[in-house]
Amino acid sequence: MSKQILILPGDGIGPEITAEAVKVLELASEKFSLGFELHHDVIGGAAIDRHGVPLADSTLALARKVDAVLLGAVGGPKWDKIERDIRPERGLLKIRSQLGLFGNLRPAILYPQLADASSLKRDIVAGLDILIVRELTGGIYFGSPRGTRELENGERQAYDTLPYSESEIRRIAKVGFEMAQVRGKKLCSVDKANVLASSQLWREVVEQVAQGYPDIELSHMYVDNAAMQLVRAPKQFDVIVTDNMFGDILSDEASMLTGSIGMLPSASLDANGKGMYEPCHGSAPDIAGQGVANPLATILSVSMMLRYSFAQTEAAAAIEQAVSRVLDQGLRTGDIWSEGCKKVGTREMGDAVVAALRNL
Ligand code: IPM
Ligand code: MG
Repeated sequence: MSKQILILPGDGIGPEITAEAVKVLELASEKFSLGFELHHDVIGGAAIDRHGVPLADSTLALARKVDAVLLGAVGGPKWDKIERDIRPERGLLKIRSQLGLFGNLRPAILYPQLADASSLKRDIVAGLDILIVRELTGGIYFGSPRGTRELENGERQAYDTLPYSESEIRRIAKVGFEMAQVRGKKLCSVDKANVLASSQLWREVVEQVAQGYPDIELSHMYVDNAAMQLVRAPKQFDVIVTDNMFGDILSDEASMLTGSIGMLPSASLDANGKGMYEPCHGSAPDIAGQGVANPLATILSVSMMLRYSFAQTEAAAAIEQAVSRVLDQGLRTGDIWSEGCKKVGTREMGDAVVAALRNL
């Protein structure tokens, strides 16, 4: 039976970048005889407009049925005033949690062609290759109770909860160790164990899991120090494993080391390797509809999909190589542009990757 893929473009620049990634996906399917069948649906603000909720039950049911999901980005000012529980971001959090996509892989790789696009000095970032493993279905994003209450003095107080169970920590720690095993054999667990109870348990459980991976060099770092080390000496890291909120923050920071958040793909995997693939960046409402967004993070997310959901290593590598060729040709969207390069729009960039992939 053919492999089913669900495409959820979302909002803002989501539809523009996803359209380019779909062209690449369709070509890869044809070139490598993968026989993919694509389905299209809505999520986020687009789903609110169509169904009144950011993730319709029918969309969730389809997402459960398919083999992989490709997602653009969600959210935008149009839906900012909506009640918190049905905002576009809730649709994204719901699909992550309902599909059990707890393991979020966010590689930050510096393409040598972009060394000058990074805000850090070339020698600090040259050759950078970090993988952030972010826990994606637990912690403060999902903890209860949460809400707003009125204090005795009449002022409002808002609160969130940051819970982590041993099993949640254990399974993401294992992903971290396993990724380290196929990479540089170094794992840094990032927490705030000097302050947070959830982080103390996190550190304890990571230590236990480490017993099963004697070949991996494990270190622990507080998140504030990790944020600092990432800009001071990022190449000290191989794999970083961390909780949901710290991973959200550190992956944005790491993206700037690579030149632009427009370059960062991600994979979110369940316990059986089923995955959803999305760029790490958001819907960028400020540039939506202008055809200037960088589609490479989404195109590279397709490559991660081929690698992790379909074990198509050759096709995945071909897409990465096509991206590299296009950068070699000097084509740059605005976010990665530097003197001497040719500035192109979203579609031109997508077309160039398609052409490069076709000619490989
Ligand atoms: C990300 C995004 C999301 C997150 C938002 C859009 C809810 O920032 O994927 O990093 O915080 O997880
Ligand atoms: Mg984020």
